Amino acid sequence: MSEISKKRVLSGIQPSGNLTLGNYLGALKQWVEEQATFDCYFCVVDLHAITVQQDPIELRKKTREVAALYIACGLDPEKVTIFVQSHVSAHSELAWILTCFAPIGWLNRMTQFKDKAAKQQQQDSISSGLLNYPTLMAADILLYQAHAVPVGDDQRQHLEYTRDIAQRFNHIYGETFVIPEVMIPKAGARIMGLDNPLSKMSKSEASDNHAIYLLDEPNRVKKAIMRAVTDSSGEILFSDNPERAGVSNLLTIYQSLSGLSKDETQEHFAGKGYGDLKRGVVDVVNATLDPLQKRYNQIISETGYLDAILANGAEKARERANRTLREVQDKVGFLAAR
Ligand code: TYM
Repeated sequence: MSEISKKRVLSGIQPSGNLTLGNYLGALKQWVEEQATFDCYFCVVDLHAITVQQDPIELRKKTREVAALYIACGLDPEKVTIFVQSHVSAHSELAWILTCFAPIGWLNRMTQFKDKAAKQQQQDSISSGLLNYPTLMAADILLYQAHAVPVGDDQRQHLEYTRDIAQRFNHIYGETFVIPEVMIPKAGARIMGLDNPLSKMSKSEASDNHAIYLLDEPNRVKKAIMRAVTDSSGEILFSDNPERAGVSNLLTIYQSLSGLSKDETQEHFAGKGYGDLKRGVVDVVNATLDPLQKRYNQIISETGYLDAILANGAEKARERANRTLREVQDKVGFLAAR
């Protein structure tokens, strides 16, 4: 199938910390699985990262790290377009235009804004960028006329918002944007913290045994999983009961990484104990991370390789994004630049 007839996909990850197993299972794994079917654009969303204050040296480092991890996870830079969001100025430009169509009421309702703002309340430092975050995300998606957006469960509301903004604009100016569909993985869409299975595994959580990071050493993986919160029932079954969330989470991780069905996963652990479950999860996680980390180390140590991919990606992305931006600028009535 040619690039033209393929449907388009766009997604991104913030370089705001160390990527977790949640990022892998909710996003990266499905990106890799979909790369042959769709015309894919994957960006490292540094403009989103600065909605909370970042150390500039660390941000640059993390931006390269995240891009290298995209490739290490199995994205083929020959097939997909990998780029840094701030390298394509159309993202900021369309975001501003869409901001002018974004009702504050819609933004105030966003759960992620409310959660993030609540965390920062004490510091009195909530930026208006944090409030406008979903509009920038809408711009990312709409610029590429993406048909589908592969993300974890926590991004559902932002996708709904993107669709609403696109429909509002299309309603006023006529058909301009493709209305994108959310694409959520069947298993692993919401991986929970190992230390607290009622809160989402997050790259910005500081506590020690909360997350598995993609660049963790095998011993750290083992330690965090062996200490994961379970319960006293002793039953290794998927369950919606919040008291069993820890065991369900471990089963979900095992299921997503092994490729088994839910039933097969439960059968695999039938008659076994929590120690066996945890050891099983340690093995399957380390078996995934080992080849990924080897590829990552190669990519990072090869001078110029990653920068060339990002330069090439930005060029391709700019070309696609600018076409949409020009159409939008024309529709809202901006005088064409000569
Ligand atoms: P971010 O950086 O928080 O997360 C990146 C991706 O990882 C998924 N994810 C998870 N999936 C399962 N379990 C978890 N515990 C978990 N934690 C994170 C997220 O759902 C996401 O898919 N707003 C986005 C970044 C973004 C974006 C975009 C995404 C900016 N522009 C355009 C798609 C399209 C975000 O904060 O992701």
